[in-house]
Amino acid sequence: MLSGRRIVLGITGSIAAYKAADLARQLVKAGAEVTVVMTENACRFITPLTFRTLTRGPVITGFFAEQAEPVPHIALAQWAELILIAPATADTIAKTAVGRADDLLTAMLLDTTAPILWAPAMNTRMWDNSVTRENVKKLTQRGHHWVQPTEGELACAETGRGRLAEVEDIVAAVQNLLLPASRLTGKQVLITAGPTREPWDAIRFLSNRSSGKMGYALAEEARRRGAKVTLLSGPVALIPPAGIDLVTVNTAREMYAAAKKAFVQTDIFMAAAAVADFRPAESKTNKIKKSKAPETIALVPNPDILLELGQHKGEKIVVGFAAESDKVVDAAKQKRVKKNCDLMVANAAGGEADAFAADHAQVFILDNQDQVEALPSLPKAQVASVICDRIETLIKEKNSPHTQKTGTRRRRGRKENEEEK
Ligand code: CTP
Repeated sequence: MLSGRRIVLGITGSIAAYKAADLARQLVKAGAEVTVVMTENACRFITPLTFRTLTRGPVITGFFAEQAEPVPHIALAQWAELILIAPATADTIAKTAVGRADDLLTAMLLDTTAPILWAPAMNTRMWDNSVTRENVKKLTQRGHHWVQPTEGELACAETGRGRLAEVEDIVAAVQNLLLPASRLTGKQVLITAGPTREPWDAIRFLSNRSSGKMGYALAEEARRRGAKVTLLSGPVALIPPAGIDLVTVNTAREMYAAAKKAFVQTDIFMAAAAVADFRPAESKTNKIKKSKAPETIALVPNPDILLELGQHKGEKIVVGFAAESDKVVDAAKQKRVKKNCDLMVANAAGGEADAFAADHAQVFILDNQDQVEALPSLPKAQVASVICDRIETLIKEKNSPHTQKTGTRRRRGRKENEEEK
């Protein structure tokens, strides 16, 4: 969810500092790269070693502590995509409100252009004090963000507002800030990925070289944009992205049955799987002995999942993939129409390089007006991001009353009728 996102976690001198250990753990678990900055007082409540162990990243405790960068506050301020201060004391809030920079954390806050998120923790009267209120207001006006403290029993044995917000609420606030609003948020996305295996006997099967990388990259990207993702995967050697529903299948018929079931609830269907078109007409449950092997194996066609589901797509958005060895764009155009897809992503198959296993892909994206966008060779994660961008454009067009009435489409300045390679 926060995969690769760079977060500085600032910890200040509050008894709630021990909760920052769980917070750091959750951020790392969500995939973030976390650098911890601790004030001198924070180090009295909890040790830097705890955070070094949990984040496996640097923990910086002051301007002059041992660290790689000569001016750590500036390097960190630029590195961070978000600075989270949790727990935040009244003192650090006050110092930041007046622009003081006498420790590494406040110096960094003065230098950064990254969003700043505060999760305060303090005694109720300190939180309610008009000076703190003014400081909070001042920082809010400067664009700072807050996860409000909650009510409950405080460390000082009093009860009231001032408890550090729950860790999951702080992580949710981080996600809200780092993951920009997307038209995929809340959408139900179904993705098929990988090859299928069509058994011939107990140990032999018919399959193909699909690695599943494209489908898995799409699942990761759609999830990152807030979609609810069901990934229907054939056998692959990949670690599934966090936060998605993974359904594993072997055969095309299993994939078809699972896809048909999930399709009902789906808003967007992406068929990235390399489904085996045929299966052996007969499949034995025992091992066929060499001496008894037939000279030929009879094949029967498998269901075409995309073709079947595309015919019933209604308002759903359907994205197909086409691996072609000849006349890539022309063949993909025909396939897009035949399978009733809104987008068709085509790439050249065959040749010496194994396109299936590669981490990069060079694709053409054809839309429902047969406009062709040729992308350069990109990492599959980036191809997934462009495909999700195009889907977001389709959602926008579908939602636009102008488009609905007139059928006009926004042009994206794409290369039209791209020459085939
Ligand atoms: N597809 C599918 N079910 C099948 C075969 C293909 O859902 N039984 C989907 C693929 O996931 C892909 C698209 O259809 O999105 C095109 O697949 P491709 O293998 O390129 O084409 P085919 O339809 O199999 O046609 P051909 O093999 O003749 O190129």
